[in-house]
This record gives sequence, structure tokens and C-alpha cells, in this order.
Amino acid sequence: MATRSTIMDTNSFRPEMMGALDPETRSLVEKRDVLGPAYRLFYKNPVHLVRGDGARLWDADGVEYLDVYNNVASVGHCHPRVVDAITRQVSLLNTHTRYLHENVLRYAEDILSTMPGEIDRVMFQCTGSEANDLAVRVAQCHTGGEGIVVTHEAYHGNSALISELSPALGTAQPLSRSMRMVPTPDTFRVEVDGAAAAGLSAEAFGGWMASCLRDAVADMERHGIRFAGFLGDSIFSSDGVFPDPRGYLGPVIEAVHDLGGVYIADEVQPGFTRTGDAFWGFQRQGIVPDIVTSGKPMANGMPTSMMAARHEVLESFAGSIPYFNTFGGNPVCMAAAQAVLDVMRDEDTMGNAKRVGGAFRGQLAGMQPDHPVIGDVRGTGLYIGCEIVRPGTKDPDQGLALALLDELRENHVLTSVCGPLGNVLKLRPPLVFSLADVDWFMSAFERSLSSLGV
Ligand SMILES: Cc1ncc(COP(=O)(O)O)c(C=O)c1O
Repeated sequence: MATRSTIMDTNSFRPEMMGALDPETRSLVEKRDVLGPAYRLFYKNPVHLVRGDGARLWDADGVEYLDVYNNVASVGHCHPRVVDAITRQVSLLNTHTRYLHENVLRYAEDILSTMPGEIDRVMFQCTGSEANDLAVRVAQCHTGGEGIVVTHEAYHGNSALISELSPALGTAQPLSRSMRMVPTPDTFRVEVDGAAAAGLSAEAFGGWMASCLRDAVADMERHGIRFAGFLGDSIFSSDGVFPDPRGYLGPVIEAVHDLGGVYIADEVQPGFTRTGDAFWGFQRQGIVPDIVTSGKPMANGMPTSMMAARHEVLESFAGSIPYFNTFGGNPVCMAAAQAVLDVMRDEDTMGNAKRVGGAFRGQLAGMQPDHPVIGDVRGTGLYIGCEIVRPGTKDPDQGLALALLDELRENHVLTSVCGPLGNVLKLRPPLVFSLADVDWFMSAFERSLSSLGV
């Protein structure tokens, strides 16, 4: 079946590239046949990593790379406090949440203390997909509705329910009949009543998004489907990274509530201090959601995720349907998550994200006059989107973006792309990224641009 290219496919190795690989890489790639063809490898020349430390990674030949992509190792690869917490707990006990244990309780209280008081319950899972799956079920149970609205290039996970709410998976992935999409809040391209979105206030841009949501829900209800809620990544990362104008989600949450729905903030990407302005992406937007989900950055690579909710929103689901997640909330994962939270406070990852991310964006924007292929630099903290375009236009240049990724990889810098057209460099390093790391990136980026003649 013909499918449009999906974001999952853009930066990926393909079998016809096999001939160019060295014998060892080739042998490992061939052995991956056992995993089946759904798995994708990054890069024309895949990277075989064996060790990590902070924002640095090493391959099997001892070559050092700069990691500008991994938000899972949020406090840096192999942070000694996280390694120690895991090691101590795994040598003592690992079991599930049907027995009493302090770790899950201590962490539950601590993570809720980072949120507004209204959000006062939390349940643990292993992946962001599971957290979103539970969130949608809770929203449906609470409202009695079924219909969920997402953005046009949203990715929220891989369960059956959530894949159907993840248009970024491409046209071969069926979408739920009861879902509707609103446009990507693309401040680089959208025009609202003839005015460029980039210059609009949060009220005006958010008002546009809220009216798109109202239209989507009207269409849903015309088809006899009751609205259950909006599921939104608070930084719209797969859509292309759109955090601003700060506060634009205010009118959106108002519309969601007006229409009788629940607002689910998917914080898998912006949460845990990454935006540099607040612990959570939704806080930066000045809103209080009904449900919050997270995963990736929670436990530095241990499979840990969560769904937090207002108790009154959780009540009808939790009071009638039991929930058990074998591995979710286990003492080892909770020890890792606690260590991550402690490190975030002690090492001020939020301050670092703001300072280093601001310098990073500033230096990238400073390159624009000499390199007109850089159409837009946006983001907040250590979450940056860098649009690669045809000079003098807003036309995306996916081919060049991919060539740049491969050049960067040859210059020992790892990152990837996002956005519906796969032309936005997604710069999202571990939160311990330093100004020296920014310098490394900038010189590798300069070299990559000039070797491509752009
Ligand atoms: C915004 C968002 N939500 C949910 C998920 C799913 O998380 P997981 O891969 O842990 O299931 C992802 C994964 O990339 C994501 O980016």
C-alpha cells in the first residue's frame, strides 16, 4: 500500500544502503532481520553505541559523539546517582504495587508536589503509550463521551487505542472514527485572518486554535459522537516544536471545558524542566489540565511513566475498573525516578536548560543571515526546532535536512528531525548539555553546512 513518508521513516536506514557499510556494521544490521521489518535504524550509516556519560556517547570503535537528541537520559547518560539508586534497590527487592512499599508512595507525593494542587492523584505505568491509553480511558469514563481531538501531526504512542490517535504514524495507520484533528499550531506558516501567526498575541493565536477545536467538535457531534477531550503535547514536538506565543493554550483549555471535555496534557516531551521556564510544559502555558501524562524523561531510561489526574476526573474510572500494571511503579523504577527528581533539583536542570538553551538558540539564529536554508529557529530551553527551507521561502527542504543529519553524524553529532514535512532539526539533548557542548554542535553544524555547500 502506498503511504506518505512518516516522521518515523524520515531518518532511517534502508536495505539498499547496505553496500556502503563496513563489514562489522553490516553484520549487525543483517542480524537485525530477526527483529522483523517494523524496527527502524537511524542514519545511512547506523551508529553502534556501547557507552554513555552525560551528553556524550561512544561507539564500539571508541569514537566519541555529542548527543543532541536523547531526552530519555534526561539527567545525562549513566548519571552516577541514578545508577547507584537502581543498583541499591535492585540488590534488595523488585516487585509490584500489590504489596506495600515506600518508594512508590514517596515518589507519588514528590512528583505531585511539582504540579498544581488540583492534580492530586497519580498512577504509574512503563511507557508514555500506556499512560496516554489510560488517560483517554479515564477521560471517556468521566465524560461519557468517546471523541478525542489531537493535532494534525500528533504522536502519542503505540497501543491500539493511541495509535488511532497518532496521525504522525502515516496513512497506513488507521485513525479512530471518533477522533478529529486540529491543524498544527505552526507559527512559522499559519496565517490567521491574513496576519502571520508569528506576530500574534497568545490570545489571538490561541483563539484561532480554540476555534479550530470548536469546529472539530461540532463535526464530531454532527456524526453522533460525544466529545471526551483534547490530547495535546504541550510543546507539539512531532508537529514541529511550537511552544509560543507563551500562554496560547489558555483559550484552548477554555474551549475544551466549555464543550464538556477533559484536557489531557501529554508531557512526555516538554515535562521535567526541559522548557527552562517551568517544571511542566503546561505550567509554562499558564493552564491547569485535568490529566497529565509523562514517561521518557522520568527515570533516565528505566521504563517508567505516569498518569496524574484531578481526583474528581479519575473517580468514575478508578471506582469501577481495577487497574494493575505489573511493572509500573515497581521499587527499582521508583528509586530511579526519585534519583532523577533529586538530581533535577540539586543540579538545577531547569536553570541549565534556560541558560544553555537560550545561548544555543541565539547562536543558531545568528547563523541565519549567512545560511538562508535556516528558515526559523524556535523553541524553549533545551527543546529547539530548526527549520530547513529553500532559501528565501518557507518551503520545507526535507532532502537537505536529512543530508544535514547524515553530515552531522559523520561529524560525531547525533540528532534527528520532526514536523509533518520532516525538515525540522529536532535539537533535544540531555538536560546537562553545556555551553561547551553548544560550541561543539555549532562547529560541527558549520562544517556540515559548508560541506553541503549551503
Ligand atoms: C508526545 C509523546 N507522547 C507519547 C509517546 C509514547 O511514549 P512511549 O514510546 O514511551 O510509549 C511519545 C513517544 O515518542 C511522545 O513523543
